[in-house]
Amino acid sequence: MEQKGFTVWFTGLSGAGKTTIADAIEPLLRERGITKLEKLDGDVVRTHLSKGLGFSKEDRDTNIRRIGWVAEVLTRNGVCVLASAISPYREIRDEVKAGVGNFVEVYVSCSIEELTRRDVKGLYEKAIKGEIKNFTGVSDPYEAPTNADVVVDSEKEDLAESVAKVMAKLEGLGYVPAAVRG
Ligand code: ADX
Repeated sequence: MEQKGFTVWFTGLSGAGKTTIADAIEPLLRERGITKLEKLDGDVVRTHLSKGLGFSKEDRDTNIRRIGWVAEVLTRNGVCVLASAISPYREIRDEVKAGVGNFVEVYVSCSIEELTRRDVKGLYEKAIKGEIKNFTGVSDPYEAPTNADVVVDSEKEDLAESVAKVMAKLEGLGYVPAAVRG
Protein backbone atom coordinates (compact mmCIF):
# COMPACT_ATOMS: atom_id res chain seq x y z
CA MET A 1 0.00 0.00 0.00
CA GLU A 2 1.29 3.46 -0.92
CA GLN A 3 2.17 5.46 2.19
CA LYS A 4 -0.07 8.46 2.82
CA GLY A 5 1.73 11.64 3.89
CA PHE A 6 0.87 13.22 7.23
CA THR A 7 2.42 15.50 9.81
CA VAL A 8 2.37 14.90 13.54
CA TRP A 9 2.98 18.27 15.16
CA PHE A 10 4.18 18.23 18.77
CA THR A 11 3.64 21.51 20.60
CA GLY A 12 4.40 22.31 24.24
CA LEU A 13 6.85 24.01 26.54
CA SER A 14 10.60 23.45 26.41
CA GLY A 15 11.46 20.21 28.17
CA ALA A 16 7.89 18.88 28.17
CA GLY A 17 8.93 15.83 26.12
CA LYS A 18 8.08 16.65 22.51
CA THR A 19 11.33 15.31 21.06
CA THR A 20 11.41 12.32 23.43
CA ILE A 21 7.94 11.21 22.30
CA ALA A 22 8.73 11.79 18.62
CA ASP A 23 11.96 9.76 18.99
CA ALA A 24 10.03 6.92 20.66
CA ILE A 25 7.34 6.89 17.98
CA GLU A 26 9.71 6.84 15.02
CA PRO A 27 10.77 3.15 15.27
CA LEU A 28 7.16 2.07 15.92
CA LEU A 29 6.01 3.81 12.75
CA ARG A 30 8.85 2.25 10.78
CA GLU A 31 7.79 -1.19 12.05
CA ARG A 32 4.32 -0.51 10.69
CA GLY A 33 5.70 0.26 7.24
CA ILE A 34 5.88 4.04 7.56
CA THR A 35 9.41 4.08 6.19
CA LYS A 36 9.36 7.49 4.51
CA LEU A 37 9.72 9.56 7.66
CA GLU A 38 11.47 12.79 8.61
CA LYS A 39 11.81 14.47 11.96
CA LEU A 40 11.85 18.26 12.13
CA ASP A 41 12.94 19.48 15.52
CA GLY A 42 12.98 23.15 16.53
CA ASP A 43 16.35 22.86 18.25
CA VAL A 44 17.87 21.24 15.15
CA VAL A 45 16.16 23.45 12.55
CA ARG A 46 17.50 26.46 14.45
CA THR A 47 21.05 25.26 13.64
CA HIS A 48 20.52 25.49 9.87
CA LEU A 49 17.25 26.52 8.16
CA SER A 50 16.36 28.92 11.00
CA LYS A 51 19.93 29.78 12.03
CA GLY A 52 20.15 33.33 13.32
CA LEU A 53 16.53 33.56 14.39
CA GLY A 54 15.87 34.48 18.01
CA PHE A 55 12.82 34.22 20.24
CA SER A 56 10.83 37.36 19.51
CA LYS A 57 7.27 36.69 18.34
CA GLU A 58 8.31 37.60 14.81
CA ASP A 59 11.30 35.23 14.79
CA ARG A 60 9.32 32.38 16.36
CA ASP A 61 6.58 32.86 13.76
CA THR A 62 9.18 32.76 10.99
CA ASN A 63 10.72 29.60 12.47
CA ILE A 64 7.34 27.87 12.69
CA ARG A 65 6.33 28.94 9.19
CA ARG A 66 9.60 27.51 7.83
CA ILE A 67 9.15 24.20 9.64
CA GLY A 68 5.52 24.24 8.52
CA TRP A 69 6.46 24.78 4.91
CA VAL A 70 8.93 21.89 4.92
CA ALA A 71 6.29 19.72 6.62
CA GLU A 72 3.82 20.74 3.93
CA VAL A 73 6.00 19.79 0.96
CA LEU A 74 7.09 16.52 2.57
CA THR A 75 3.51 15.60 3.49
CA ARG A 76 2.39 16.35 -0.06
CA ASN A 77 5.04 13.86 -1.24
CA GLY A 78 3.83 11.00 0.91
CA VAL A 79 6.24 11.45 3.80
CA CYS A 80 5.40 11.15 7.50
CA VAL A 81 6.75 14.19 9.34
CA LEU A 82 7.29 14.31 13.09
CA ALA A 83 7.68 18.00 13.92
CA SER A 84 8.60 19.18 17.42
CA ALA A 85 8.75 22.87 18.26
CA ILE A 86 7.34 24.92 21.10
CA SER A 87 5.20 26.73 18.50
CA PRO A 88 3.65 28.95 21.17
CA TYR A 89 1.13 30.82 19.04
CA ARG A 90 -2.19 29.20 18.17
CA GLU A 91 -2.75 31.31 15.09
CA ILE A 92 0.52 30.22 13.45
CA ARG A 93 -0.08 26.55 14.35
CA ASP A 94 -3.51 26.82 12.73
CA GLU A 95 -1.98 28.42 9.66
CA VAL A 96 0.49 25.54 9.35
CA LYS A 97 -2.31 23.03 9.92
CA ALA A 98 -4.33 24.56 7.07
CA GLY A 99 -1.30 24.43 4.74
CA VAL A 100 -0.32 20.86 5.58
CA GLY A 101 -3.81 19.34 5.52
CA ASN A 102 -3.07 15.90 6.97
CA PHE A 103 -2.07 17.39 10.28
CA VAL A 104 -2.29 15.79 13.71
CA GLU A 105 -1.74 18.17 16.59
CA VAL A 106 -0.28 16.67 19.76
CA TYR A 107 -0.16 18.87 22.82
CA VAL A 108 2.57 17.74 25.21
CA SER A 109 1.47 19.25 28.49
CA CYS A 110 3.53 19.68 31.65
CA SER A 111 3.38 22.24 34.46
CA ILE A 112 6.00 24.93 34.88
CA GLU A 113 6.65 23.61 38.40
CA GLU A 114 7.58 20.19 37.03
CA LEU A 115 9.62 21.65 34.16
CA THR A 116 11.53 23.79 36.64
CA ARG A 117 12.20 20.68 38.73
CA ARG A 118 13.45 18.74 35.69
CA ASP A 119 15.29 21.66 34.12
CA VAL A 120 17.21 19.31 31.83
CA LYS A 121 19.01 22.13 30.02
CA GLY A 122 19.27 24.44 33.04
CA LEU A 123 17.29 27.08 31.15
CA TYR A 124 14.34 27.48 33.55
CA GLU A 125 16.61 28.46 36.42
CA LYS A 126 18.24 31.09 34.24
CA ALA A 127 14.89 32.29 32.92
CA ILE A 128 13.47 32.64 36.44
CA LYS A 129 16.54 34.63 37.49
CA GLY A 130 15.98 36.86 34.47
CA GLU A 131 19.21 35.76 32.78
CA ILE A 132 17.25 34.60 29.72
CA LYS A 133 14.59 37.02 28.56
CA ASN A 134 11.34 36.06 26.85
CA PHE A 135 11.48 32.46 27.95
CA THR A 136 8.32 30.55 27.04
CA GLY A 137 6.15 29.78 30.04
CA VAL A 138 8.20 32.00 32.34
CA SER A 139 8.39 35.41 30.70
CA ASP A 140 6.86 34.76 27.27
CA PRO A 141 3.43 33.43 26.29
CA TYR A 142 2.41 29.88 25.44
CA GLU A 143 -1.06 29.46 23.97
CA ALA A 144 -2.11 25.89 24.70
CA PRO A 145 -4.16 24.20 21.97
CA THR A 146 -7.90 24.24 22.56
CA ASN A 147 -8.71 21.34 20.23
CA ALA A 148 -5.58 19.23 19.91
CA ASP A 149 -6.05 15.78 18.35
CA VAL A 150 -4.10 14.24 21.22
CA VAL A 151 -3.23 15.67 24.63
CA VAL A 152 -0.48 13.91 26.55
CA ASP A 153 0.54 14.88 30.06
CA SER A 154 4.19 14.05 30.58
CA GLU A 155 3.86 14.80 34.27
CA LYS A 156 1.18 12.21 34.94
CA GLU A 157 1.82 9.64 32.21
CA ASP A 158 4.92 7.65 31.49
CA LEU A 159 6.48 7.71 28.04
CA ALA A 160 4.87 4.41 26.99
CA GLU A 161 1.38 5.75 27.76
CA SER A 162 1.93 8.96 25.82
CA VAL A 163 3.36 7.03 22.87
CA ALA A 164 0.40 4.61 22.93
CA LYS A 165 -2.08 7.51 22.86
CA VAL A 166 -0.46 9.06 19.80
CA MET A 167 -0.19 5.71 18.00
CA ALA A 168 -3.86 4.94 18.73
CA LYS A 169 -4.91 8.29 17.27
CA LEU A 170 -2.81 7.76 14.13
CA GLU A 171 -4.40 4.33 13.69
CA GLY A 172 -7.86 5.77 14.29
CA LEU A 173 -7.30 8.42 11.64
CA GLY A 174 -6.16 5.76 9.18
CA TYR A 175 -2.61 7.07 8.77
CA VAL A 176 -1.06 3.98 10.32
CA PRO A 177 -2.19 0.38 9.78
CA ALA A 178 -3.26 -1.38 12.97
CA ALA A 179 -0.66 -3.64 14.57
CA VAL A 180 -0.87 -7.27 13.49
CA ARG A 181 -1.36 -9.31 16.62
CA GLY A 182 -0.18 -12.89 16.46
S1 ADX B 1 9.73 28.17 18.92
O1 ADX B 1 9.13 29.08 19.93
O2 ADX B 1 10.29 28.89 17.77
O3 ADX B 1 8.79 27.10 18.51
P1 ADX B 1 11.79 26.16 19.21
O4 ADX B 1 11.03 24.93 19.55
O5 ADX B 1 12.27 26.32 17.81
O6 ADX B 1 10.94 27.45 19.69
O7 ADX B 1 13.08 26.25 20.16
C1 ADX B 1 12.93 26.12 21.54
C2 ADX B 1 14.25 25.75 22.20
O8 ADX B 1 15.14 26.86 22.18
C3 ADX B 1 14.04 25.43 23.66
O9 ADX B 1 13.86 24.05 23.88
C4 ADX B 1 15.31 25.92 24.32
O10 ADX B 1 16.29 24.91 24.31
C5 ADX B 1 15.79 27.03 23.44
N1 ADX B 1 15.50 28.40 23.90
C6 ADX B 1 16.44 29.39 24.00
N2 ADX B 1 15.88 30.55 24.37
C7 ADX B 1 14.55 30.33 24.51
C8 ADX B 1 13.44 31.16 24.89
N3 ADX B 1 13.60 32.44 25.16
N4 ADX B 1 12.20 30.60 24.93
C9 ADX B 1 12.04 29.29 24.65
N5 ADX B 1 13.05 28.46 24.29
C10 ADX B 1 14.30 28.96 24.22
